[in-house]
Amino acid sequence: MAKFPDVLLAACAVLLALAAPLLAGDPDMLQDFCVADYKSLEGPLRLNGFPCKRPENVTADDFFSGVLAAPGNTGNPVGSAVTAANVEKLPGLNTLGVSMSRVDYAPWGVNPPHTHPRATEIIFVLEGSLDVGFVTTSGKLFARTVCKGELFVFPRGLVHFQRNNGGTPAVAISAFNSQLPGTQSVAVALFGATPPLPTDVLARALQIDGGVVEAIKSKFQPKY
Ligand code: GLV
Ligand code: MN
Repeated sequence: MAKFPDVLLAACAVLLALAAPLLAGDPDMLQDFCVADYKSLEGPLRLNGFPCKRPENVTADDFFSGVLAAPGNTGNPVGSAVTAANVEKLPGLNTLGVSMSRVDYAPWGVNPPHTHPRATEIIFVLEGSLDVGFVTTSGKLFARTVCKGELFVFPRGLVHFQRNNGGTPAVAISAFNSQLPGTQSVAVALFGATPPLPTDVLARALQIDGGVVEAIKSKFQPKY
């Protein structure tokens, strides 16, 4: 029979092995690549990720995207545009656990508070300078200015934002440790959901009048 410390060690090893996938980002890959087969979306099967294209049908183009080459249109109320290069646009990313986005900011434009439930984000300022920040689960704000050529990290799941702090356009590139980080805007989640969140819930939560809640809701177009 195994001695007590051996049993304990074995139990710890099993626990660690089970916990590892929970601590990681996207699941680890089991082959060189698994280019997303978008055609599978036409069938009834749904997977965590996409099924792989047959390897003989894979080409270099499956690993290429020019989607970040063009600036996004910042002519909107917040003055920013996020262009994503994730697995939904770049099939070669499937199972690789990474993606990128480009953020364009009009002068003084804001990328409003949002979270990525599946990824940590690292942002690199290509042009201009940004005021950035994230809020921890205990309510502490970490914020600072990040200039051209500098980096900042937003830990996974935490609410964060950027603001162009200058009178000329700014551009940043973000990298994520997920093929599909997911983005949840705080304002859109609260005020633009379909069906809408009850006005009295929001009025109570935000300690404001129901009329103010209705006024804010009217500014957000429901997505569906
Ligand atoms: C910036 O925060 C982004 O999500 O691209
Ligand atoms: Mn982000």
